[in-house]
Amino acid sequence: MQPTSSRLAGKILKLERKETWETEWNDGNPAWHRKYVSPMLIKHYDEFTSGRRNRRILVPLCGKSLDMIWLADQGHTVVGVEMIRKAIETFFEENKLLYDVNTAQTSAGGTINLFKAKNKDLTLIECNIFDLSREVYHNKFDCIWDRGACTVITMMDEARLKQYVDVLLSSLQSDGRYFVMTFRHESGKNEGEWISHLPEDKLLELCGDRCKVELVEQDDIKNDPALLEAYATAPQHSIFYYFVTLK
Ligand SMILES: C[S@@+](CC[C@H](N)C(=O)[O-])C[C@H]1O[C@@H](n2cnc3c(N)ncnc32)[C@H](O)[C@@H]1O
Repeated sequence: MQPTSSRLAGKILKLERKETWETEWNDGNPAWHRKYVSPMLIKHYDEFTSGRRNRRILVPLCGKSLDMIWLADQGHTVVGVEMIRKAIETFFEENKLLYDVNTAQTSAGGTINLFKAKNKDLTLIECNIFDLSREVYHNKFDCIWDRGACTVITMMDEARLKQYVDVLLSSLQSDGRYFVMTFRHESGKNEGEWISHLPEDKLLELCGDRCKVELVEQDDIKNDPALLEAYATAPQHSIFYYFVTLK
């Protein structure tokens, strides 16, 4: 199997296409997937959830992240959004979770599938994040956990990134918290194939006056072997974690 890095890099302009991600999932275990729960999520969990249980937590572009199971096991309602059916089925299969499939109607008249675990408060919505709306998720979220989602959208165009941030922020409760991971390239600019560079001022600009953006921690990509492998063509960058809250 070719390393995911080069396949992803070669398809940077096609990241919006469903087929690109279908191929990633059909080709086997995606490199960015981590076989353990995010240490950064565990470390900042109390502040992320304001020390409360029963939070509604959104995980955009969730893949088959184990973070979702961990969060559900802490006593929260977890909702993942993933557009590739294979990823959703693989998630339930690998974790030996039984599920029911329900449907929801979108305002545009489409139908969306919701995969709800039988024994955990965990639902994966099969939909493009840009089609996510209140008709589908009903109640807003208290928390959003974004590892490897904003970084993907950053590789699309700026209009899409703005739209993505708007979709997420409009799904967030007024006292909610958006925990987001971004990359910053050491050179301080987008270079070559590596264009997931989102500096803090740009994040601030995207979130606008309605938000407060707070740096939580800076990390080295070497501490995340899955990301290092997935983005091996451009390892000279750092990972930044932020809390975004509405003012
Ligand atoms: C880089 S992976 C990150 C997965 C996960 N957050 C993790 O940490 O393992 C991006 C995931 O988002 C999915 N995806 C890509 N574009 C999407 C979109 N527009 N809407 C919903 N899911 C999308 C892909 O199928 C893939 O599973």
